Amino acid sequence: MTNLWARKSVVELVAEAAHAGVDAEVRPLRRTLSALNLVALGVGGIIGAGIFVLTGHAAAANAGPAVTLSFLLGAIACAFAGLCYAEMSSTVPISGSAYTYAYATLGELVAWIIGWDLILEYAVGAVTVAIGWSGYVVSFARDFGLDLPARLVSAPLSYDAGQHTWSATGAILNVPAVVVIVAITSLLVIGIRESAQFNNFIVAIKLTVIFLFLVFAAHAFSTANWVAPANPDGRFIPPNAGYGVYGWSGVLRGAAVVFFAYIGFDAVSTAAQEAETPNRDMPIGILGSLVICAFLYIAVGFVLTGIVPFDRLNVPDPIAVGIDAAGVGWLAPLIKLGIVLGLTSVILVMLLAQPRIFRAMAHDGLLPKAAAKIHPRFHTPHVATIGSGAVAAVLAGLLPIGLVGELVSIGTLFAFAVVSAGTLVLRIVDPALQRPFKAPLIWIVAPAGAVTSVFLMFGLPLDTWLRLAVWLAIGLVIYFTYGAKHSRLTKAR
Ligand code: ALA
Repeated sequence: MTNLWARKSVVELVAEAAHAGVDAEVRPLRRTLSALNLVALGVGGIIGAGIFVLTGHAAAANAGPAVTLSFLLGAIACAFAGLCYAEMSSTVPISGSAYTYAYATLGELVAWIIGWDLILEYAVGAVTVAIGWSGYVVSFARDFGLDLPARLVSAPLSYDAGQHTWSATGAILNVPAVVVIVAITSLLVIGIRESAQFNNFIVAIKLTVIFLFLVFAAHAFSTANWVAPANPDGRFIPPNAGYGVYGWSGVLRGAAVVFFAYIGFDAVSTAAQEAETPNRDMPIGILGSLVICAFLYIAVGFVLTGIVPFDRLNVPDPIAVGIDAAGVGWLAPLIKLGIVLGLTSVILVMLLAQPRIFRAMAHDGLLPKAAAKIHPRFHTPHVATIGSGAVAAVLAGLLPIGLVGELVSIGTLFAFAVVSAGTLVLRIVDPALQRPFKAPLIWIVAPAGAVTSVFLMFGLPLDTWLRLAVWLAIGLVIYFTYGAKHSRLTKAR
């Protein structure tokens, strides 16, 4: 009889990882990542479409200049969850991340649900960002006089959320989105060290581009730019015009929108079995990348709304509008290149995280064993990496961006809530466990992490909730028809 709540103790989990599993096929991953590599992985996964695109939308529609506060609130919400991730990843340094933490705290069924949910964050996240990447590449090519054929750079399917209907667009395939996923998947198969080096390089460019923007645009900052038709007095928080439209409720709604920009720091935890010193360096990677990005985001939000009145920012390229307004148009191509590269590393980190979670799930018997295989020469989970990449490539080639974006946020928030709750549960059920990093004030931090995550989930549309419910229902069917029968834990007891 399956015991849905059976959990693995942390000691069992860590011992299993140390022995690299029971099968001869299951080899260890290669430990090559330093603390700096882990911080760079976090920054690589975090800075992307969120800051480069959503900032403008959140400022124009929700928060005005106070989008700066939305970023601050988003950072505080993520800091609670981030501290919990940091504690769990130093205590249970295993690549399954939230899935493994749930296994150790809330039992197999919840672990499966979270593992299944994380597909929304990582695989669907990679799909979303790859579609955005394609859009930027097309516009970058156009700047150089190269017009890519429309039928080959957009999705053949479109979805009308109001009518719940699909239609054909006449396009054939979003080729750039497919190509970037295939290229990154290949790199990820070849090696973790190679992937991390490529990521470090991109992160350096991405950070340079943001610094250039801040340094060269700051001179044009003036509070006179806070004035807009919806904000005639030029207040920092424009007067409320309905729930979620300016005022404090607008700041909150803005925080739910820009939350997407922070997604990615948690992906660092999936590299736990490839870190040289995971117990010490996991918290450094997770919290270090979060702090760096929070400061940059707050600064970008503040400068951008100080150089362009917020009602002009509801565009796909708000940073480009900002540099034009600041009179430094020569920076534009550099910024666009930085954005294209920046999105590339987000895709890389998401496609790095996804197979490592599958690997952990397969290791526990909840997915077919092949997904746990490690390549004899490259030491990467090649089967899971190629499988995740293939599915992501197909979806990125066919789907429109609107359908997938908010699913990523809701899936991530759900995982944050469970990890925060699980951290407190583990403190209660196993207080003596060695915790190299302990989140401070756990009785405040963990509940606050869970509550703020659920609260931000409520900022997302009903449609997105329904899609989450359908996704989880499919997951439950798979669990009861496959996972529950093959679970190693159930077989062993
Ligand atoms: N945080 C990532 C981005 O903004 C997902 O693209």
